[in-house]
Amino acid sequence: MIDKTIINNLVYKIKDALKLGSSSVVGIDIGLSAVKVAEIIETKPGTYKLVKYASVPLSEGALIEDEIQKEDEIIEALQSAVIEANIDTTNACISISGPNTIVRKLQLAGGTDEEIEDQVLWEAEQYLPFDIDSSTVSYHLFGENIGGGVDVLMVGAKNDVIYRYKDLVEHSGMRVKVVDVDAVAITNVFEHLYLEEMEDPNFSRIIMDIGAQKTSFIIHKKGILAFCKEINIGGSMITEEIQRQLGLNFLEAEGLKTQSDANGNLPEEVLQVIEDVLEIFFKEIKKTIDFYITAMSDEDFSECWVTGGGALTPNLIEGLESILKLPVKFINPFEKITYDSKFSESDIDSITYTGVTAIGLAMRKIDE
Ligand SMILES: Nc1ncnc2c1ncn2[C@@H]1O[C@H](COP(=O)(O)OP(=O)(O)OP(=O)(O)O)[C@@H](O)[C@H]1O
Ligand SMILES: [Mg+2]
Repeated sequence: MIDKTIINNLVYKIKDALKLGSSSVVGIDIGLSAVKVAEIIETKPGTYKLVKYASVPLSEGALIEDEIQKEDEIIEALQSAVIEANIDTTNACISISGPNTIVRKLQLAGGTDEEIEDQVLWEAEQYLPFDIDSSTVSYHLFGENIGGGVDVLMVGAKNDVIYRYKDLVEHSGMRVKVVDVDAVAITNVFEHLYLEEMEDPNFSRIIMDIGAQKTSFIIHKKGILAFCKEINIGGSMITEEIQRQLGLNFLEAEGLKTQSDANGNLPEEVLQVIEDVLEIFFKEIKKTIDFYITAMSDEDFSECWVTGGGALTPNLIEGLESILKLPVKFINPFEKITYDSKFSESDIDSITYTGVTAIGLAMRKIDE
């Protein structure tokens, strides 16, 4: 028998996914390559402006999936980011990801709030790849579906991961008010930018955040997050392979990969490594799509949207377009979100590609 308080009583539970309150928070995204902080203000309802942002790089292997390896370094990086961005709010929204979290759309019979909660817990017990008694489960009700039931987004995470991240962030003087997951933060930004203009919501849209250690693969359909999976591919695989093959250290390999010459070209041997690793990427992505198609009997895709630093890998977009046979576009938060004039063009460029998760977290509001 599962204790219902799992959903209700945790102060720092993953808050009712997608729900927004009234007071703003600092978005903190702790990724493999950097700690990013963002603060957003709502200039009028539904209109957002990025007012503060900073990204402080982490050294190689500061975390492995959701395992924090270099706690002191991450705390220091977060403190530096807070100072650099000039953030004075202490309420934070953080996100977690990795093997100890799960995001899943459920179709339930529906009923009263209590009945829906029971159904979520029952489903959570089936799907959670970890012990439900030491996890936090939360859900967001999308509404009725055409079958007469209800669609719900269930989010679950192991408590020790939630508390490890929360403690780490609180060590740096912040108060964690909301714990979110990467995929939901990205989906929130995506919906804010594109949902209104979406031509046919019945088509499925693939969204991918290609980071350093992982790719969040999301299917958006009929106005909601319909499917989500984390794939273990990302930019660090390329960097590691360059390190290995060319006998370089991490920073040298990162530099070689990301800095092209005056003509925009990379050395031939680096391009070869990229080509080889991209082949693995595309195989993994194809596998995930095939799994989705089989599991959901859905192959009506209309486009693919990407974000994350890994998406800047040369030839990745072209390769994706050719395996997906779909147009692939970059999510551009600044199509709708304005920003403070203090940000330089190159700041905005880098936030466009690597700041979407932090922006999504900063768009959260809390009820105080
Ligand atoms: N111009 C570029 N060309 C190729 N790769 C790039 C470029 N710029 C950044 N990257 C890669 O993008 C990755 C960082 O992206 P991002 O900031 O989205 O990752 P992260 O959020 O730290 O990682 P994760 O979410 O996986 O923990 C690094 O692997 C970096 O090498
Ligand atoms: Mg990331």
